[in-house]
Amino acid sequence: MTSPSPDSPAELTLEEKASLTSGSATWYSTAAGDIPRLMLTDGPHGLRRQQEGGDNLGIGDSVPATCFPPAVGLGSSWNVDLAHRIGEALGREARAQGVHVLLGPGMNIKRSPLGGRNFEYVSEDPHITGRIAAALVRGIQSRGVAATPKHFAVNNQETDRMRVSADVDERTLREIYLPAFEHVVTEAQPWALMSAYNRINGTFASEDPALLTDLLRGEWGFDGVLMSDWGAVNDRVASVAAGLDLEMPPSETDAEIVDAVNNGTLDEAVLDTVAERLRLLGARTTDPALATDPVDVDAHHRLAADAAAEAMVLLRNEGDLLPLDPAAGARIAVIGEFARTPRYQGGGSSRVVPTRLSGALEEITALIGAKNVAFAPGFSLTDTPDTAASLAEEAVNAATGAEQILLFLGLPDGFESEGFDRDTLALPAGQLALLERLTTLNIPIVVVLSNGATVEVAEWASSVEAILETWLLGQGGGLATAEVLFGLSSPGGRLTETIPLRLSDTPSFLHFPGRDGHVGYGEGVYVGYRHYNTLDVPVAYEFGFGLGYTRFDFADLAVVPGTDPHTWVVSATITNVGKRAGSEVVQLYVGTTEGTPTRPAHELRGFAKVHLAPGESERVTLNLSARDFATWDSGQHRWRVDAGAYTVQVGSSSRRIHLSETIEVPGDGWVPELSEYSTVGEWFAHPVGGRLLQSVRDRMEAFAAGGAPELLRMVEQVPIIKLVSWKMGLTLERVREMVAFVASQR
Ligand code: BGC
Repeated sequence: MTSPSPDSPAELTLEEKASLTSGSATWYSTAAGDIPRLMLTDGPHGLRRQQEGGDNLGIGDSVPATCFPPAVGLGSSWNVDLAHRIGEALGREARAQGVHVLLGPGMNIKRSPLGGRNFEYVSEDPHITGRIAAALVRGIQSRGVAATPKHFAVNNQETDRMRVSADVDERTLREIYLPAFEHVVTEAQPWALMSAYNRINGTFASEDPALLTDLLRGEWGFDGVLMSDWGAVNDRVASVAAGLDLEMPPSETDAEIVDAVNNGTLDEAVLDTVAERLRLLGARTTDPALATDPVDVDAHHRLAADAAAEAMVLLRNEGDLLPLDPAAGARIAVIGEFARTPRYQGGGSSRVVPTRLSGALEEITALIGAKNVAFAPGFSLTDTPDTAASLAEEAVNAATGAEQILLFLGLPDGFESEGFDRDTLALPAGQLALLERLTTLNIPIVVVLSNGATVEVAEWASSVEAILETWLLGQGGGLATAEVLFGLSSPGGRLTETIPLRLSDTPSFLHFPGRDGHVGYGEGVYVGYRHYNTLDVPVAYEFGFGLGYTRFDFADLAVVPGTDPHTWVVSATITNVGKRAGSEVVQLYVGTTEGTPTRPAHELRGFAKVHLAPGESERVTLNLSARDFATWDSGQHRWRVDAGAYTVQVGSSSRRIHLSETIEVPGDGWVPELSEYSTVGEWFAHPVGGRLLQSVRDRMEAFAAGGAPELLRMVEQVPIIKLVSWKMGLTLERVREMVAFVASQR
């Protein structure tokens, strides 16, 4: 979309300019001159439009809006078209309510499954996170409403979230925590962005010029309004100087900005730039050419339900128990409070008041008739020990004599939310005890899970026939769950986060959530499947996994060079070889053992969701660019493609690779600089430096051949300047000449 060019700016006073850098109320920016006051509203999976003066924790009432599946669900759909349609619906609802800026999508990486806010984020992987977020942004902005990807950056935990320093190395930042933001900024051009509460390597994300200006605007070209998370500004002047345009909510410290300009510590031009950006945001979000669509509440509800079906991940389905036959007249026991009281979204600022809501119990009853359904809650959502025994007893009685048990388990609201992290991956004890009792009845059990982030399943998975992981599905979840269980639609989700066997297997286990104000990112780039698959750690269900009601065949892989240098085109044919229509997520991973430092076994570099009728085939084509083979070189501060062999893998999960081919990638041909402190090995490997040192090398090789073979390898590790005192025929002057010569050849 092209940006409307702002009208000629009106002259603003210094005080007016200062006032622009902070809101005028909790949900409003400040107006000045020709710059309009804009309404900003949560949130990422539904509109939480509050009245002025409302709280920002999600506990107040907001105007009813469609509650779409939170990111945990939408991400599991792996469906970018769906994300785009939901983005459009969010934008439509926002615009109809007079909202200019929508505070989402959330796109931080799920570093630990304990993260309290994981339900608001897409994945442990940056590739899929970036694609789903970009589709949402495009959809939202197509309706003339600004999207606000958040929280920039490295906001991967709730514990001490307003102060903690995320201590993370440069390569890990570039390869794991920044690429999704980079993709969304460069590919979807959001009109706004929200900085995070936390510090990164000691500096508050909201006050870091390297992050907010050099990287975000300089390198990635962000031209929108950068706002703080609510209350994330600590030093108002430092934030503005670092590149933050808008502090939210207002702090009444405008005078600090005015003083800073007057005493010369802040350049007034910075304020002029803020004014320009807000003017542009105003123009973009009040575009009169874009009509406000009427909101079709029913259509949005149906979209929410369709999205929910696409999001559910079928983890287990022994003997193809699912789908159940709605016409069989079988007696079904529906057990679990979550069937009646759905958990469909998480707590905190993203909580919306849905336009309508039904639980799975209600929808199942409507589908197969009340006479076929026996219900018991089985447990209470507060998991109080005093009532647990009687509720379990009642559930066992209700289930006795049933042909199938649909057991709805999950995490109650109090277990996970914005604002705190979990400390266990276990389901509540009362629910596990209930499950154990029900298994003694020898009736096939389908466990339907409702949880915003991974729970441990390994202990009990084999004692039930089927497990349907529904995550949090939004307001259409009850309807979609009934439709999926009874085969009116298929479960379309695949895991975007690994389900580990146990908490202590998770890569950040020894570091999360840190202490003494710091959290070390010691696992580096080995986040999620990059850890499990590199180290061959057994997991309960791997990244990318999910079953459906049909089966797919993968064939005819072709990996051919693309038309642009360093690009490749990967294609494969996917066929639905089962008896029902269904969807598959074709996943493309690239791995290599080339180059140092060591790299993950493989990384997701592309995917496509296909929907196929029985017998139908589709040729899927995915593109790889140089960046897909690159690693971040922290020494040179740049992306680097090492020449060598790379494996291109196509599969239905990160551990179910059906097709693969090894290709030779030429590398980017980049020649590093050499210095006095480059090692002898680095000099030998260098095309120019190696030639200059040929005689030294010959002498060393001769020496090594004469009985000291370890010598050569030992010397390769030594900075060349050290050889000066080793009497190898190299003087300091000669070393300096060589450094200068190599530099002159670049
Ligand atoms: C959250 C943001 C949210 C903001 C406004 C903060 O506490 O971290 O995600 O948009 O509040 O509600």
